[in-house]
Amino acid sequence: VIVALDPANPAHRRAAASLHNALLPESPIAKLGRLFMEGFYYNHLVREGLIACDLYSHDGRFVGFAAYTKEPYTFMERGKKAHFFYLSAILAACLAVRPSRIKIILEALKTLSRRVQNQGKGVGELLSFGVEPAFSSHRDAASGKKVPHLMFGRVMAVFRREGFSKIQFIIRKDNQASLLFFNSYGAVIREADYTGPGFFLLDVSL
Ligand SMILES: CC(C)(COP(=O)(O)OP(=O)(O)OC[C@H]1O[C@@H](n2cnc3c(N)ncnc32)[C@H](O)[C@@H]1OP(=O)(O)O)[C@@H](O)C(=O)NCCC(=O)NCCS
Repeated sequence: VIVALDPANPAHRRAAASLHNALLPESPIAKLGRLFMEGFYYNHLVREGLIACDLYSHDGRFVGFAAYTKEPYTFMERGKKAHFFYLSAILAACLAVRPSRIKIILEALKTLSRRVQNQGKGVGELLSFGVEPAFSSHRDAASGKKVPHLMFGRVMAVFRREGFSKIQFIIRKDNQASLLFFNSYGAVIREADYTGPGFFLLDVSL
């Protein structure tokens, strides 16, 4: 069963943060820590409608997640402006726990400003996506689809319904499983300046 993350539900925020941490440990969001994810990213950004997140629940346990945004170039900038003081306090706490996180914050700020210069119309972004390995071949009882296909299909349907023409996402160049997965949707792979040298920018037309 897919459920939309409800930011008022701490169990949902915890589940999204746990899955993000376990499946994408190298992502800057995960590296900023649980407080940032549960307190800001999967909380205020969802409340503001700047990102959305689907969770896949199997027997009451969350085993997959897909976070996406209709505002790929500005969602973080807008979130930052709307919650400047709260975000600053959260980041200060993250830094107090691990001062080396300053590098991640500075790198993220650089990426954000490069992103803003890349604006395009009708483009949504899949920000983070993953299914626990034990469930990636599991077929959803209601639809008969494998969980990753079911979840990505739902994200595509959301964007299609709202008139978007494509979904983009950033994938590490060495993430072969994901490249094969998105290749099966006809993803076009390219380099983009704001993704950094270790990453591809992929597009799937809707
Ligand atoms: C992305 C993710 C959900 C894909 O699931 P997966 O179990 O690795 O993928 P699978 O091996 O089942 O393959 C999925 C699809 O890729 C394609 N594929 C896989 N191997 C292939 C091959 N050798 N040749 C061609 N296509 C292939 C197929 O379309 C396959 O679908 P099918 O099994 O229904 O035929 C999973 O790897 C994951 O959660 N990764 C961790 C998080 C992550 O890296 N996320 C992406 C960045 S945000």
